[in-house]
Amino acid sequence: MPGAAEKGPIVVAIDGPAGSGKSTLASRLAAELGLPYVNTGLMYRALAHRALAQGVDHDDGPALERLLRKMTFEIDRSGRPPALLLDGTRPPDGYAASEVENSVSAVARHPEVRRAMVELQRGLGREGAVMEGRDIGTVVFPEAPVKIYLDAAPHERAERRARERKGSARVAEGMAERDSRDERVNPFVPAPNAVRIDTTTLGADAVLNEAVRIVRERLGGGT
Ligand code: C5P
Repeated sequence: MPGAAEKGPIVVAIDGPAGSGKSTLASRLAAELGLPYVNTGLMYRALAHRALAQGVDHDDGPALERLLRKMTFEIDRSGRPPALLLDGTRPPDGYAASEVENSVSAVARHPEVRRAMVELQRGLGREGAVMEGRDIGTVVFPEAPVKIYLDAAPHERAERRARERKGSARVAEGMAERDSRDERVNPFVPAPNAVRIDTTTLGADAVLNEAVRIVRERLGGGT
């Protein structure tokens, strides 16, 4: 959809739980719209990873905030779509490791960490972005003109995650545990004006087509 990026800074918020298809949709939609792709889950994972590496206690909110403030996040404009760089390099695959997934909800629950993240994320989206997360349409960019909430049946989310990680039943268990930790400490509330897409029975192309239709509708056509 050429032209979307020329309409001024547009933020498209894509929120939803793990395994709902957020990353696949958000990166493809960003490429389609010519906007940067900002994966905010990756930012929380990067902080959890750094805390593990440096022995920072995931119960110590102020220490985690200090650690976060030493990290730099920027957009690599040479990428397709332009996407996040952490401390000047592309984030490694290690952020999907189970140790990171086991501690990320605890790291993300601290108000000081969330405040600092929101500040960073607003800076990254200032010139427009497709931003993926859980609180984009409610907290980070409540004024975003396009908000999409993705969801899928729990069995389908678990199966997708297992396929992605070439894993077993442990993957499904790990995801269910993280879901319930997030529910307790980072309760997830979809924005009231978000458009919901249930991706349980939809392929990635169908989800992308639906999202492009929603973007066109919300931006008043002509894009
Ligand atoms: O989206 P993803 O599964 O990569 O997110 C990893 C974790 O980061 C989530 O389980 C959640 O604890 C946290 N998160 C968050 N707010 C966001 C994005 C992610 O609290 N906007």
